[in-house]
Amino acid sequence: MASLQTLSLGPADLAKASKLLQDGGLVAFPTETVYGLGADARNGTAVAAIYAAKGRPSFNPLIVHVASLEQAETLAHFDDDARALAQAFWPGPLSLVLPLKDGHGLSSLVTAGLDTVAIRMPAQKLARDLLLAAGCPVAAPSANPSGQISPTKAAHVLSGLSGRIDAVLDDGPCEVGVESTIVATNPVRLLRPGGLPVEALEAAIGHPLPQDLNPDTPNAPGQLTSHYAPNARVALNQREGALMLGFGAIDGQLNLSQSGDLHEAAANLFAMLRQMDALADDGQTINVAPIPMTGLGLAINDRLTRAAAPRSG
Ligand code: TXA
Ligand code: MG
Repeated sequence: MASLQTLSLGPADLAKASKLLQDGGLVAFPTETVYGLGADARNGTAVAAIYAAKGRPSFNPLIVHVASLEQAETLAHFDDDARALAQAFWPGPLSLVLPLKDGHGLSSLVTAGLDTVAIRMPAQKLARDLLLAAGCPVAAPSANPSGQISPTKAAHVLSGLSGRIDAVLDDGPCEVGVESTIVATNPVRLLRPGGLPVEALEAAIGHPLPQDLNPDTPNAPGQLTSHYAPNARVALNQREGALMLGFGAIDGQLNLSQSGDLHEAAANLFAMLRQMDALADDGQTINVAPIPMTGLGLAINDRLTRAAAPRSG
């Protein structure tokens, strides 16, 4: 693809960023989970450019970002469960997979031809302002080259995508630090653990949430492919090692959270994986301390398991 001059924008450049989106450009923007790589979800050429910039090998469906529940209801059918979840958790780190509505206007590249669409209303203030100003639904995967670690700072976006996108809107580090939790309805089920803890969802629906965990590659069912991968190898549930990413009392060169706080650990996860990668010598393994499987620990362990998965070449 053509090499672009990637603009570094700040909150004061909101109008410029929204104009770029309206004109079919690619704009990376902060959300409370990770930075997304946004394009007008109705513009097939712009959406195709997302796949090209990321080097995303297959056309996995993208999440559509909206400014309001009202806007979301122009795109998809909300049953009672979906409406209750949206009312309880939007804006926030929850994506809902719902049946498309006639006349939705989205590019079929966004949904990869499925008859459902993943929709999210982010809480981050600048993201909300951008979505309101642009006035269009915005398709956005995480703003990183395919298979690499998701960005939680604007500098991460630039290190992976500079020259391949029009702009990055910088509003500091992401507060949550792992991608949104993805839930499908009819019946309600968990597709991906993420920034909204399963316990919160279960409290809202009043029963356990069945899991229907699909790896990020729907065309390779059951195969855990490498994802969120640093260059160095990653080993999980380690208590000691030359290169150690700690948690709680198990310390290391870096510690996800000295106090064992899973929110702090999630917010630190991707940036610290990058830092550990920079510390690693050739052939060295990043050992990661055990992380409990409660709250955000589910999402943290999911991302770490993918980072540790065998590499396909
Ligand atoms: O926090 C997040 O969710 C971030 C920020 C930028 O919003 N976005 C993100 O997008 O993580 P991405 O492309 O990395 O992940 C999208 C996931 C994929 O695993 C895809 O399979 C799933 O959403 N997905 C999208 N549409 C779907 C659909 N109709 N049915 C099932 N899964 C879907
Ligand atoms: Mg991603």
